[in-house]
Amino acid sequence: MNAENKSPSLEGGFLKPKPAGLSASRMSAFNVDAIKHDFIRHYKPQLLAMGGGEHVVYEIPEHPGIVVKAVSRSIRHTIDWNIQHGKSPDSLSEDLDKIIHEYLSEDAERFQKMRDHYGDQHVLNQKQFLVKLPVTAEILMQIYKGKPPVETNEAWGIVTVQRKSVAVQEGKHLALVSGYSEAKPIDLKVYNTVTKHLVFGENPEKKTGKNEFLQMQWSKFLSDLVEQAALDEGLRDSLKEFVHQTILYTEKGEILDLAGPDNVVFYRNGNQWSYQLLDAFNSGGTLATETKDVIQKIGRKESLTPEERADLRNVLNYVRTINGLAELFDVPGRINIAPNGVKDYPSNLFELMRLGKKKP
Ligand SMILES: Nc1ncnc2c1ncn2[C@@H]1O[C@H](COP(=O)(O)OP(=O)(O)O)[C@@H](O)[C@H]1O
Ligand SMILES: [Mg+2]
Repeated sequence: MNAENKSPSLEGGFLKPKPAGLSASRMSAFNVDAIKHDFIRHYKPQLLAMGGGEHVVYEIPEHPGIVVKAVSRSIRHTIDWNIQHGKSPDSLSEDLDKIIHEYLSEDAERFQKMRDHYGDQHVLNQKQFLVKLPVTAEILMQIYKGKPPVETNEAWGIVTVQRKSVAVQEGKHLALVSGYSEAKPIDLKVYNTVTKHLVFGENPEKKTGKNEFLQMQWSKFLSDLVEQAALDEGLRDSLKEFVHQTILYTEKGEILDLAGPDNVVFYRNGNQWSYQLLDAFNSGGTLATETKDVIQKIGRKESLTPEERADLRNVLNYVRTINGLAELFDVPGRINIAPNGVKDYPSNLFELMRLGKKKP
């Protein structure tokens, strides 16, 4: 996931019928019914949902227990790679095949560790494949935000086959979404105080108020979850267990992706509340350790790459959310990403992290 590509206005847990916030053209571009291609004839994928922007999620009528997610960014990567190497957009050279399979096997190994950590019952099983997919001019327009560099009817891309979440399908779940403080016209004083405390460990004995925390993260999903958890002991226990496990998971150098709708959901399983990780795996890298380096880079007044900015912004929101929940619900332990505590806090952090503005 890349926060730079994620519009915070796309929060919503988008399910059928047409999800609010998604343009009709985006939905219709990925409705693949009419495409004449063996893959489509064979599997008859039906568009189910689109979330934060990375996955296009389909149901397969003959396999009701699974969803198939096309990783749209991967299609762009293979096409770009082919263009750079003077090859046709739909080719798969030995080199490219090797790069992608190495990436997939690293991710599969990390994914399995995440599943082992949280337990199989909390992480939907999934498997990723490299597949030659049909594409249309409309799909390319979406993937390239209006500027496709080539025309092609097929391209290689990654698809994730995942168990379908009954909880999400029934629609009675609550979602844990971290929100993006840096996308909002937030009070700078509040931003600095809360971030220093929750992320950089200033005044550990002090508590951030619930309202301040929720205002800071600015997610309707998070507010609903916190308000409900305050009223319902079973939900609260499940949330506390998730937060506890997540603090431990982060100590292993990993983070979760909590930025999208329904990446982590809470639902009633019989008489009990439980949680499920649908799209929380942070593919492509172990960010918690890298973040420490990026924070020190800011301290040395070095400029950040767009990827470093996007990653740091994600990690800040992730840590603020998990540590904020831990504080609110008395879960012991905190995530620590600042090597020197509050001494590492950059006074211009908000400006640096602000969404939508190009900054050094
Ligand atoms: N396994 C699943 N079962 C049922 N619905 C799902 C499943 N995975 C995702 N969805 C639905 O599809 C949406 C987008 O999926 P997600 O993998 O989060 O994509 P993105 O990376 O674009 O956010 C989710 O918000 C959810 O509503
Ligand atoms: Mg998602």
